[in-house]
Amino acid sequence: MNKFWIGLTSILLLVTACSTSEKRDNLEQAQTNQKVKLILDLDTGIDDAMALAYAVGCPDIELIGVVGIYGNVSLKTSVQNSLDLLDLLNSKDIPVFEGVAHAQNKEDVYEASEIGKFIHGNNGLGNVEIAHSNRNVEPQNGIDFMIESAKKYGKDLMIVAVGPMTNINAAIKKEPQLGEMIGGIVIMGGALIVEGNVSPVAEANIFQDPFAANELFQSGTHLTMVGLDVTQRTNLTKKDTQIWRELGTDSGKAFADIVDYYIDAYGESAPELAGCALHDPLAVAVAVHPNLIKTLALHMKVGTSENDWGRTVAENGKMNSPNPNIEVCVDVEVDEFVSHFMETLTNLFKNN
Ligand code: BDR
Ligand code: CA
Repeated sequence: MNKFWIGLTSILLLVTACSTSEKRDNLEQAQTNQKVKLILDLDTGIDDAMALAYAVGCPDIELIGVVGIYGNVSLKTSVQNSLDLLDLLNSKDIPVFEGVAHAQNKEDVYEASEIGKFIHGNNGLGNVEIAHSNRNVEPQNGIDFMIESAKKYGKDLMIVAVGPMTNINAAIKKEPQLGEMIGGIVIMGGALIVEGNVSPVAEANIFQDPFAANELFQSGTHLTMVGLDVTQRTNLTKKDTQIWRELGTDSGKAFADIVDYYIDAYGESAPELAGCALHDPLAVAVAVHPNLIKTLALHMKVGTSENDWGRTVAENGKMNSPNPNIEVCVDVEVDEFVSHFMETLTNLFKNN
């Protein structure tokens, strides 16, 4: 066999192995009326807001807490947006915790970048004003909340991180068994076979803190990477947001306005998508419905040099090494996910 066929055969074996592997199907769990306990790690911009609403509205999920991180906005704004959105969705019982305020190799508190403001608006919510919550952030640190919840709920818990990898990497550094203790970790970030969205090679979340992402990938922790390869296929248009607006409810109108801002920004920056990408909501869906995606199991690394800053790529020397720890999403059931997402949010907005 020549090198090409050996390579191809290995890749096919890997794909087959991971699609038939013992992935925990949380759909089955949901059918037994046991909801998946979920922690969302958010840099609350617009697709994070949709991920939050999806987690609140999804009948298979019990959202036990939100941890904030810098990214699309500063940490302070991220946390305030999560509190405000949870109030809007009548979910004041869901606690919000603070994570870290900057990348692990930096010291200054991160403030939103120009590109962040362009995509998510100055306030992270498309410049739409929603009522400010009078709730406070929890006194406990968000990283400790993740670890404490892992000890409490074990395999019933999933963590979904959809901002820079700084919080989740810090949690794993503090508790190296975290990934083993819980049901799974899903991240939104990276790009395996497509170009980046903030540089030719980098996706935004990984670009923010490639050192944290690289440590996370190299830690051996098992996780699922929901990258641009799949998230850019799942899109929403103004026809969809109009359905929410026509509900006439506070949340329906606010989310329609917020997401329309995002759709307009995508119209300028990525018109080929014909809508906005559902990056962060897809990561939430994958945590509870892993059958929505196909993955390729790989050992991965993240570039940290000037030329490959934030690039997520498989390690050449480990293509045939055992126990690859990253399940990289390479395909997605687009229609099934987008209709489930629309149904979930429309039902939620109907009543709030
Ligand atoms: C990711 O970057 C952020 O702007 C979005 O919220 C999403 O998590 C997409 O690259
Ligand atoms: Ca995000």
